[in-house]
Amino acid sequence: MLPCQLNIAIDGPAGAGKSSVARAVAQALGLVYLDTGAMYRAITWKALQMGVPLTDVDALSSLAAATDFHWDSENGILELYMDGKPLPAAIRSAEVTQQVSLVASYEQVRKEMRQKQRALGNGNGVVMDGRDIGTAVMPNAPLKIFLTASLEERAERRLRELGQDLSLLPQMMRSLAERDHKDSSREHSPLSIAEDAIIIDTTGLSLSQVVDLVIGHAKRVCFGEGE
Ligand code: DC
Repeated sequence: MLPCQLNIAIDGPAGAGKSSVARAVAQALGLVYLDTGAMYRAITWKALQMGVPLTDVDALSSLAAATDFHWDSENGILELYMDGKPLPAAIRSAEVTQQVSLVASYEQVRKEMRQKQRALGNGNGVVMDGRDIGTAVMPNAPLKIFLTASLEERAERRLRELGQDLSLLPQMMRSLAERDHKDSSREHSPLSIAEDAIIIDTTGLSLSQVVDLVIGHAKRVCFGEGE
């Protein structure tokens, strides 16, 4: 395939499959993949480690400003590093997952993060996933995708991802619905669909079906091919 070096924004609610789709699309097209949710999680983890109160907006935005994110390649694979180290597994812990929506709700913190996200994307095309990529971080991206799926399917996928029992479905549905509500109703850059985004409902679709759909749209944008 000829190089298709475009910026692709992928937004959507928790558990819609954004990161799996974004990673696979980036790999297929030879683009960099940036998980912006991981960056909000990393700042939340760092604040918890350092004992910065998550209600102290000024301290959190200074912390975000002073944090270095850069790409490093481990075995030829580009990976995001924070302050010289790979992002710790603990950014996926229950504690961080519970607190990250609060940290991500502060405009001062988001402003710092958006700048860093844009800088990390500078270059030869990036696939970025998050909640405000098409609306705020890369509003000029030539391809914007909004991924969604039913609450039940998103909860099921999340449980499988975590290797947890499906009997936990009601709890997981409640926790995702709560996070959806927090991410969609916050004052600053809430989860919203860019006017020019292509909405893909992934309920009942496999990962490879969704990846193929997105790659089809990318080829159309790059080369004017039919979908
Ligand atoms: O995609 P995720 O679940 O890892 O994201 C973690 C949190 O970060 C989620 O609650 C919403 C927030 N987030 C955000 O506000 N803006 C982004 N661009 C990415 C994530």
